[in-house]
Amino acid sequence: MEDHYHARRARGLTEVRPLLHALYADRRDVELDRLIQRIGSVLDDAHAARPAALRRIDAERLADPGWFQAAARIGYVAYVDRFAGTLGGVTRRLPLLEELHVDLLYLMKVQRARPEPNDGGYAVVDYLDVDPALGTWSDLEHLTATLHERGIGVCLDLVMNHTAREHAWAEAARRGSARHRAYYLVFPDRQLPDLYEEHLQEVFPDLAPGNFTWDDELAAWVWTTFHDYQWDLDYGNPEVFVEMLGVMLSMANAGVDVLRLDAIAFTWKRMGTNCQNQPEAHLLAQAFRALTDVAAPGLLLLAEAIVSPGELVPYLGAHRLQRRECHLAYHNQLMVQIWSALATGDARLATESLASLPPTPATATWTTYVRCHDDIGWAVDDEVAGRVGIDGGGHRAYLAAFYRGDVPGSDALGAAFSTNAATADERTVGTAAALCGLEAARARGDRLAEERAIRRLLLAHGVILGFPGIPLLYMGDELALSNDATYLADPALVEDTRWMNRPWLDEEVLERRHVAGSVEARVFAGLRRLVEARRATPAMAAGGQLWLHRYDDPAVLAWQRHHPVHGGFFGLANFSDQPATVPAASPGWAGLHEPIAIVDDGVTVMRDRLVLPPLSVTWYVDRADAPVVPAPVPTGRVRPPDVRG
Ligand code: GLC
Repeated sequence: MEDHYHARRARGLTEVRPLLHALYADRRDVELDRLIQRIGSVLDDAHAARPAALRRIDAERLADPGWFQAAARIGYVAYVDRFAGTLGGVTRRLPLLEELHVDLLYLMKVQRARPEPNDGGYAVVDYLDVDPALGTWSDLEHLTATLHERGIGVCLDLVMNHTAREHAWAEAARRGSARHRAYYLVFPDRQLPDLYEEHLQEVFPDLAPGNFTWDDELAAWVWTTFHDYQWDLDYGNPEVFVEMLGVMLSMANAGVDVLRLDAIAFTWKRMGTNCQNQPEAHLLAQAFRALTDVAAPGLLLLAEAIVSPGELVPYLGAHRLQRRECHLAYHNQLMVQIWSALATGDARLATESLASLPPTPATATWTTYVRCHDDIGWAVDDEVAGRVGIDGGGHRAYLAAFYRGDVPGSDALGAAFSTNAATADERTVGTAAALCGLEAARARGDRLAEERAIRRLLLAHGVILGFPGIPLLYMGDELALSNDATYLADPALVEDTRWMNRPWLDEEVLERRHVAGSVEARVFAGLRRLVEARRATPAMAAGGQLWLHRYDDPAVLAWQRHHPVHGGFFGLANFSDQPATVPAASPGWAGLHEPIAIVDDGVTVMRDRLVLPPLSVTWYVDRADAPVVPAPVPTGRVRPPDVRG
């Protein structure tokens, strides 16, 4: 089969040359031509080894480069063990995934990590081996093939910033291999570490203070941004780049469709900076992208850069000139702003923050999410907050307290994670249901509060599913799973409160999704309704433009989208537990000629206002672009509002 490999190879190697030059020009020992030659042979080997079934998928995706932006893309995130026991067990969960129309499955903690503690699997000892408790590498290949037959792609982590101290490279370094020592950032004394520390933050200030760890075998300090057993790789060394490229392509050849580039923001260090989001971290991502496009063109790169709003969009390739960088990046800011608006019932900060993000390149998009396995860091920009009269620091403290349940009226049952005493920065953990107040309401038997909590949970999902990008549903949120307490009994986990929001899937709870009237069934049906409305509506594809609208009612988040091929969209979310109103003409002002609600929680029209029910979401499209096949669960329609000419 002619797959134009040679054309791609020529283009990729041309594209990567200036990137590698910019990364490694300072190193006199690096001969660029030789480096590129070696990279060429890594590509050739990977291409030769690429299974025929994956080449067919490559060909389909090359023919439809926007494939991952389609409205029908729905992601789901799960720990293999907590979700399905083993890799082999994942197929038992196909009914659940199919009911939710999932076509991208992000499985966590798959690769072989050091024995616990291992930061939830993020201390990898072998990128190309599976945790023996879950199965084997060939089980992984088998699973990806089985899922592909059902149209489901697979995402895995590539923990690219660091390896475990027990990874073969680190072992070799500890045994004295100079070559492998140079894979890491190693310092004979505290002189440079102390200088770096002046500008570094701490990711786990209480669990793992400091960014350097003394290692007796190395007889040196090694850079450890995260835990002391997670050694940061030195991407200033092109050998590390070549190794990681090989890992990426081997993972792709095992049938992995999306690589989640873990902690990508930290991959380049520069004295005098916080060593995050350095220009070179972007060059690295661009170089990897140029090369994976050659040998595994169906592969997507997802940036896990949980950074401040201003630093986010460049990972999608938005620089002074647009670049091909990651296809996808976590929309951390949307997630934070959803929780912020739910806490205050006020969407003005969300509107202001989202409106101040630069536009995303048309060829890339977000992954949107409500919760994930990590904590929530309150990434509220002080300057943006100031514009809407909010003090950033005060607001961050309020959000942390609100979700701890320490604010009158808050039913949230979250907890603090990694509080930094020096900066008073407190992050938050807890499952979505617990943060929405569902757990507390159920415990009290308070039906009204329960209803409110369910609405919050669905509202949050109505926003992430209504925004451009691939929504990533986090395992358990579809069933309103509560906080998990089992980690408290495990000495290796007990210190890390993130385990609260890493629950086990319970068969009984899972079955209750079909028990009419149960909380699980209500949440599940509500979520499904959103998923089905979305996937039936091509206008919800990513790749178009997004605008935020400001109305007089502070509770309302209003967003307009326009896709050049599939048409317009207008979303309204009311974050208050009171009704809110917007001008009835607003869908028309947002460019819809004949607006029709495809998701409607009971909007009414009073005179010239749309009345949005408390904690509700409404999605409008043009009648001409509405789903041909109505969503299976009818959502009710609102009389089209008057459109002012
Ligand atoms: C990412 C992971 C997180 C982990 C960290 C270090 O942020 O999501 O769970 O602790 O990277 O690998």
